[in-house]
Amino acid sequence: MTKSQSQATADTNTNEEPVTVTFEDGIAWVTLNRPAKRNCINPAIVYRMCDILNDLESDDRCKVLVLTGAGDAFSAGMDLREYFRATDDKPAERLKLFRANGQWQWRQLRHYAKPTIAMVNGWCFGGAFTPVIACDLAIAADDATFGLSEINWGIIPAGVVNRAVSQLMRERDGMYYVMTGETFSGKRAAEIGLVNESVPLEDLRARTTQLAKVLMEKNPAVLRTAKVSYRIASEMTWEQGADYLMAKHAQSVIEDPENGRNVGMSQFLDDKTYRPGLGSYKRDVK
Ligand code: COA
Repeated sequence: MTKSQSQATADTNTNEEPVTVTFEDGIAWVTLNRPAKRNCINPAIVYRMCDILNDLESDDRCKVLVLTGAGDAFSAGMDLREYFRATDDKPAERLKLFRANGQWQWRQLRHYAKPTIAMVNGWCFGGAFTPVIACDLAIAADDATFGLSEINWGIIPAGVVNRAVSQLMRERDGMYYVMTGETFSGKRAAEIGLVNESVPLEDLRARTTQLAKVLMEKNPAVLRTAKVSYRIASEMTWEQGADYLMAKHAQSVIEDPENGRNVGMSQFLDDKTYRPGLGSYKRDVK
């Protein structure tokens, strides 16, 4: 997806960037930026997010990617006007747009090379569930409001929402929210495992930063293989999983520029300078 494509579909109602990226101490804060529209996802956001995810994967300023929303919303889901109604009679444009949306919301995010955290600061509806679920980890504000609202306006949770929800939620919870469209809080999202935890809104950024720093202490090559192989192995049989993980383990040792396995073992067994059960080995990082 090129920058010119994203410009060609830029939000006609505002000159604001549809998504902003700021870098701070290794964290790339990627912020959906249509607060007046509760950051609902229009074509400009879709194409911009494809570019941004591509770019950040090889940008050294991004060690951890945090996805969040400007103002009082994470995202009110897909834009009913620009994503749906405007493409009703344009099947070719719709196909391209829907494909691009799947590209950033889960194909890129689910197996992203860098660790990802969804920071759900407020409203989170429908299509916005997909990137939250696709991120590796998620933290919500206690009072954020989640809702699978599709049923309320006459569609099913499509895109890949039903698939994504069934990956994380217990069937009783998933079916309940899909069928009732009832909203639930960030606290409830944590109880049912949709997010890792919820915290008061005023602590949300600090807690997210703290978690990102923990991830930054780890060996990035091994962290990448650990998280990607977790998801891929979860869809295999045990026999396939064991064989695949053995191969990924060997690959990650061979391809680790830090030689972390041997350094860590030596620091524990020979130097006795750390305990692997209690934290990371001392990395020689400039
Ligand atoms: N698609 C298109 N426009 C949307 C939108 C969406 N998903 N969500 C919000 N907006 C627009 C509203 O139309 C409104 O535009 P306007 O100022 O031009 O009238 C603006 O964003 C603000 O929305 P508003 O409803 O006034 O804000 P609120 O704070 O009172 O309520 C929500 C926030 C999120 C509860 C409400 O906007 C809503 O229900 N949005 C739809 C959520 C949804 O069902 N998403 C699923 C899509 S898959």
